[in-house]
Amino acid sequence: MNNFEFKNPTKILFGKGQIENIKNEIPKGAHILMLYGGGSIKQNGIYDNVKIALADFKVEEFGGIPANPEYDVLMNALKIIKEKKITFLLAVGGGSVIDGTKFLSSAALYKGEDPWEILSKPIRTEVGMPFGTVLTLPATGSEMNSGAVITRASLKQKLGMGGPGLFPQFSILDPTVVQSIPKRQLANGITDAFTHVLEQYLTYPIDAALQDRFSESIMQTLIEVAPKVIANPSDYKAASNFMWCCTMALNGLIQKGVPTDWAIHAIGHELTALYGIDHARTLAIIAPSHYMKNFEDKKEKLAQLGQRVFGIHSETTDEIAKKTIVALEGFFHSLDIKTKLSEYTEDYKGTAEIIEKLL
Ligand code: NZQ
Ligand code: ZN
Repeated sequence: MNNFEFKNPTKILFGKGQIENIKNEIPKGAHILMLYGGGSIKQNGIYDNVKIALADFKVEEFGGIPANPEYDVLMNALKIIKEKKITFLLAVGGGSVIDGTKFLSSAALYKGEDPWEILSKPIRTEVGMPFGTVLTLPATGSEMNSGAVITRASLKQKLGMGGPGLFPQFSILDPTVVQSIPKRQLANGITDAFTHVLEQYLTYPIDAALQDRFSESIMQTLIEVAPKVIANPSDYKAASNFMWCCTMALNGLIQKGVPTDWAIHAIGHELTALYGIDHARTLAIIAPSHYMKNFEDKKEKLAQLGQRVFGIHSETTDEIAKKTIVALEGFFHSLDIKTKLSEYTEDYKGTAEIIEKLL
């Protein structure tokens, strides 16, 4: 096992009815900017519950953060933060709203000329404006990590940022929010979380027995609950397990002391920037081919995954590893996630060359 340091300061409030406890987590007298997306929270009641919980605070609002949070939109929120002298940010949404809020947390205290530098250089955020989150879509793990990915459509760029100043102070994980999530987003969430585990697990053996078992248990649980959540998003037991898996998949724990990969995400982000394909779907396009192309380096862990998670037994390591890639693609298909770029765009010629240059 490699040496590591581990610190995750985000406080999790998990379960039904936790939204009302937001008021105990935000400093008294805070001037809050509540941030959200395209309006789903106004239809499913989350907006009303949050507003009730914030009754004793001075609150401004900024809605309209799009999926793949857009830099130009966030710059309008930054103006409000400065003009109204906001002191605390509250993200109410999925990964896009939370990531957008992380960018604002950093940009609000940024001393340089142009906040785009935080992404283009990139600049690590040591201290950001304090913020909390109410997670409405289990998927990214952004609610308990310190990373964010921001899009700037005019430049066709999607860039990452992060730093120890960008952990949420708290995150509310109420699995009842899963009820209103459309099937497409549920499938995306399962695929994203599953691939987060793969990126941190599917490298080469390093005798990190506990990290391997953590990873395998998250993947096994996702495989078990996926059909239940998709068939009935109101199934609280399934939704709870789905939500906690997504958070645990990317809160830093399973990557400690082990090599990680993240090539699938790096290439996937470029596919989103070029074609607007949903984040999770880009991962399903890349993962099977990535594992075939890097088969020799990854076959030991592929075979371990096959045996322990997909229950594949065969004669040789090579055989099991190959069957594992087929099983993985089958899992994505079972969620109705397509795994070929040509199934998302007709205009895909030359994509590999473009991305190779960018990376
Ligand atoms: O905008 P609203 O109206 O809220 O609707 C959203 C959006 O249309 C909807 N939604 C969310 N919660 C809902 C709901 N609809 C009904 N009921 C609810 N309870 O779902 C749609 C997608 O939301 P989005 O936040 O974009 O999805 P997701 O959570 O998958 O986030 C994707 C973004 O996160 C980044 C991705 O690159 C992408 O930009 N990632 C962030 C990571 C991180 N910070 O650690 C890691 C990931 O690998 C990923 O890169
Ligand atoms: Zn992801």
